Amino acid sequence: MEEKRAAELREKLASTVKKRLFEHCSGVCSEAVRMAELFGADQDKAYVAGLLHDCAKWMDKPKQVELCREYGIELDEITLKCPAVIHAPLGAEVARREYGIDDEEILDAIRTHTVAGKGLSLLAKIVYVADMTEPLRDFDGVEKLRKLSKKDIDDVYREALRQTLIFNIEKGSVVHPNTLDAWNELCGK
Ligand SMILES: [Fe+2]
Ligand SMILES: [Fe+2]
Repeated sequence: MEEKRAAELREKLASTVKKRLFEHCSGVCSEAVRMAELFGADQDKAYVAGLLHDCAKWMDKPKQVELCREYGIELDEITLKCPAVIHAPLGAEVARREYGIDDEEILDAIRTHTVAGKGLSLLAKIVYVADMTEPLRDFDGVEKLRKLSKKDIDDVYREALRQTLIFNIEKGSVVHPNTLDAWNELCGK
């Protein structure tokens, strides 16, 4: 993508979020671009979606909920039960309003990066996976994901969903229905 535009987005993000979150976003951005090249997705879109996926994560939860109301983003009951996922739909709106992103595929990828869903685009699958495989991530299973992310997007996406579902259930956390929908869609394929 145009260097100047990329630098503008990076600077704006860097001046808004803490260093650790910016580094995470940078890592997701590079991972997303790498997979886009490998799996034949648009690399510029992967750059923007990866970089901005957490652009609303720095706000505290009450602020996120308040802003969702202001922007007319509907939060279902389950999403309100797992506040850690609100920054995804909100992030898509912040990317549109604050960063001037109007590409719906990019915005969708930001919107779905926490809970996934049925019928994700290639770009959205890439961002979902890159969020888990970026270099700063360290959890059991990450190496398996990294290995698969160099081979097949559908295999790595399926494994990412599987690990997420198991993690949430073992923790006793709510499982968002969109994540189950994504999983069920892949079963039998
Ligand atoms: Fe996120
Ligand atoms: Fe993230």
